[in-house]
Amino acid sequence: MKFGHFSDTAREYVITTPRTPLPWINYLGSEAFFSLVSHTAGGYSFYKDAKLRRITRYRYNNVPADSNGRYYYIKDGDTVWNPGWQPTQTELDSYECRHGLGYSIITGKKNSLTAKLELFVPVGDNCEIDRLVLTNESDAPKSFTVFSYLEFCLWNAVDDSTNFQRNFSTGEVEVEGSTIYHKTEYRERRNHYALFTVNTPIDGFDTSRDAFLGAWRSNANPEVVENGRCTNSVAHGWAPVGVHQVNVTLQPGKSRSLIFVLGYIENPEDEKWAAPGVINKTRAQAMAARYATDAQVDAALARLHDHWNNLLSTYSVKSSDEKLDRMVNTWNQYQCMVTFNMSRSASYYESGTGRGMGFRDSCQDLLGFVHLIPARARERILDIAATQFPDGSAYHQYQPLTKKGNMDIGSGFNDDPLWLIAAVYAYLGETGDYSILDEPVDFDNDHSLAQPLLEHLRRSFGYLRTHKGPHGLPLIGRADWNDCLNLNCFSKEPGESFQTTGPSEGPVAESVFIAGMYVKYGNQFAEILDSTGHTDEAAAVRAEVAEMEHTVLTAGWDGKWFRRAYDAFGHVIGGEECEEGKIFIEPQGMCVMAGIGVDTGEAVTALQSVKDKLDTKYGIVLLQPAYTKYHLELGEISSYPPGYKENAGIFCHNNPWVSCAETVVGHGDRAFEIYKKTCPAYIEDISEIHRTEPYVYSQMVAGRDAATFGEAKNSWLTGTAAWTFVDVSQYILGIQPTLAGLKIDPCIPHEMDGFTLRRVWRGATYEIVVENPDHLEKGVKAMTVDGKPVSGNILSPVPAGSTVEVKVVMG
Ligand code: BGC
Ligand code: NOJ
Repeated sequence: MKFGHFSDTAREYVITTPRTPLPWINYLGSEAFFSLVSHTAGGYSFYKDAKLRRITRYRYNNVPADSNGRYYYIKDGDTVWNPGWQPTQTELDSYECRHGLGYSIITGKKNSLTAKLELFVPVGDNCEIDRLVLTNESDAPKSFTVFSYLEFCLWNAVDDSTNFQRNFSTGEVEVEGSTIYHKTEYRERRNHYALFTVNTPIDGFDTSRDAFLGAWRSNANPEVVENGRCTNSVAHGWAPVGVHQVNVTLQPGKSRSLIFVLGYIENPEDEKWAAPGVINKTRAQAMAARYATDAQVDAALARLHDHWNNLLSTYSVKSSDEKLDRMVNTWNQYQCMVTFNMSRSASYYESGTGRGMGFRDSCQDLLGFVHLIPARARERILDIAATQFPDGSAYHQYQPLTKKGNMDIGSGFNDDPLWLIAAVYAYLGETGDYSILDEPVDFDNDHSLAQPLLEHLRRSFGYLRTHKGPHGLPLIGRADWNDCLNLNCFSKEPGESFQTTGPSEGPVAESVFIAGMYVKYGNQFAEILDSTGHTDEAAAVRAEVAEMEHTVLTAGWDGKWFRRAYDAFGHVIGGEECEEGKIFIEPQGMCVMAGIGVDTGEAVTALQSVKDKLDTKYGIVLLQPAYTKYHLELGEISSYPPGYKENAGIFCHNNPWVSCAETVVGHGDRAFEIYKKTCPAYIEDISEIHRTEPYVYSQMVAGRDAATFGEAKNSWLTGTAAWTFVDVSQYILGIQPTLAGLKIDPCIPHEMDGFTLRRVWRGATYEIVVENPDHLEKGVKAMTVDGKPVSGNILSPVPAGSTVEVKVVMG
């Protein structure tokens, strides 16, 4: 069942009923001011940091779900309704929500009045614009009243939802003309405030939530709206809100637009206050003046459309499969940008108050956005690298505001260092900007320890080279990519936190998955060394890598698949001898991507085992058989019921690894089949089972051991976005930026006739036509560049600004 449809021309998902299985959201903003907006106008806004600069209040895990947001109430006679249905839930005559690139449009109609609400964050500004266009579709004049409503958060979202003894007394507002200022904290000389304004004189306002809602009521039935009149309340403590009242009369067929602006102002440090508690409104007034007319809003919207269209024109495909095209050209890349901006902080499943930026998460996210915003990727790499320790290990997370490593979590996740190599290689392949390797970068954010970035990579690789266990495999530490496989945590008591206590590194627990990474990213490191003239060192790294390959094929090989690990007692994890958890997905994907066992047959055997043992109709589960018993010595993994999360859920992030791996062995049909199973556009028809948004990936889909097989959770902020984009753009469609050049090596389903693709790479535009006359899955037999045959399948860089016509014939 579907709850909407894609509009490919508009690049929108059109939701046609408010009764979706879960809130289906969109993200507004891509620089500093961000908003989450659901299809019923729920959600919240923040400036840069969802914990410390939360502008509006949201209640997670609320009932009914998602019932705080920016709401517009319409009182038309005795009927009170919202264009987005929530929170009154008054039945609408028609409803539609269009989630587009950086904007959403929600349209509701009731009693011949249409209310269209356009929401977006303008490029380069710190505000959300909500333009409400009201149209009288009846043949008689209509008079009605509009009330806006949002609830201010007292900035620190954690304090706001816990420290009531204080914050019931700190709230302060000011109203001047049509503008409501939220200025809590200003008294402490924190030089920031929020404003909520509308471009017309108002007929009333409220800023006290209690006054607006009335006693013992909720935002589903505010007393003020019922009465049709604001009380002009001024909040003193308790809960400050922003409510405008605008009385409207419309002749038949006529429209009127109201432009609401929710803005954040931070006055410069050196600017003096008039007096404590008195805010400088100049910037707020200027902001309001920027969006006072429809023409201004139209222009800002046009800039937003241009921004996204330019960005996404970097990579676009045209094939015979419209679902493939829509995911590649729009939604997958869009989600990659959102994960760049949000990391794992603010979604409908991440509270915005918990995690900072993950070392491994951010490095992997970068693989999905480096082609879109290489300059910001560069900055991100340098920020991440500065949180590395001198020995090559790394803080697992850092705070975006301070860019400092998070000491509460610390280090000890032994895959982390290698992801830095992956990120830097991707950046170099994309840009050819080797100067990044010479950038001095702190260790542990300590300037006195700064070393060129290349030295950071050396220590990343060196850390794993010097931290091997009894089988010669890399020590796992607290965990590798799989946060929940805590093989050194046997000393913990049940109930103790899995990730913040215990030995950071046991003496023996080893990871075959990290071994796969060591080979894959060790080879990339060697390539970087070769390209910078360090040939002897490159050879030494390759020798290390070869030795590890051998170790994986002996100690890491179980006969039919790659083992997962050895635990702290030296027991095999992920082998036939295990009672449960006999086979895991991660090492199969990573080791084959690394090229291990490709020439000797193990790779194909391992992938066949994945197909036989882990595959389901909704994707590949993480392990089998699921752990039914709790294993103290394995950590968090078996704390999940079978089929959920890391305990045999379909953890979408690592499905593309297997798809990539299938292309490494030339299986285009199977690679694409795997790609499709978790790809939102292909499973739109089962939205009632899948339940999360059909336009983005979720972290997890319940596996076949779960009662709710096929149900997704935790949409939007997942490494799945980046890895599927890598999979489809580089491995399946086969356009791979490498240090040697742009490699064209498609591996597609045999029935595909070919495709055309535009790729902007290092400033030049490559118009690529791939033909597959013999209906093969992989192989390039001929390539021409601007009509001239070339040997091999690697394109050299050409001057920025040029256009290159490339024709590739598979064979
Ligand atoms: C989840 C993991 C996640 C981790 C983050 C765990 O509870 O299962 O998926 O990576 O928390 O800290
Ligand atoms: C989500 C975390 O953000 C990521 O770092 C981890 O690799 C996966 N969960 C798997 O545990």
